[in-house]
Amino acid sequence: HSILVLNGPNLSRLGKREPEIYGKITLDDINRGLVESFSEVAFEFYQSEGEGALIEKLFQAEDNGSCSGVVLNAGALTHYSIALRDAISAIELPVVEVHLSNIYAREEFRRTSVISEVCKGVISGFGANSYHLGVRAILESRS
Ligand code: DQA
Repeated sequence: HSILVLNGPNLSRLGKREPEIYGKITLDDINRGLVESFSEVAFEFYQSEGEGALIEKLFQAEDNGSCSGVVLNAGALTHYSIALRDAISAIELPVVEVHLSNIYAREEFRRTSVISEVCKGVISGFGANSYHLGVRAILESRS
């Protein structure tokens, strides 16, 4: 089985981007860490700055048949993308919403997620470990 790790806008800049909030770890470091920790999982990694590309990737994962779930850090799209929310609603695959930072401990506008309601669950505030916990959530909730 495979798991799609999907990252949205600005997450390509991890390591350089606001390190006081997101740390110095890069997205490649995070992805490498997942491969090392979960040798039994066939990961697919994808990042895009664009809403449409993320939505298309979700549909591809749904249609490909061997994907067992998605770990999604939607970046700022989390807070306003109804299109992304509708795409998550439109598929059967379990999607786990993850964030490096604790979105409830930051600016007011980050406290609203328009995707949480249609995700399986939310993990926020544990840095790179949020992704690891997201993968575990998918592995442990498979029936
Ligand atoms: C983020 C939190 C979002 O509010 C922000 O827009 C991001 C990253 C996180 O991982 O903490 O781009 O999703």
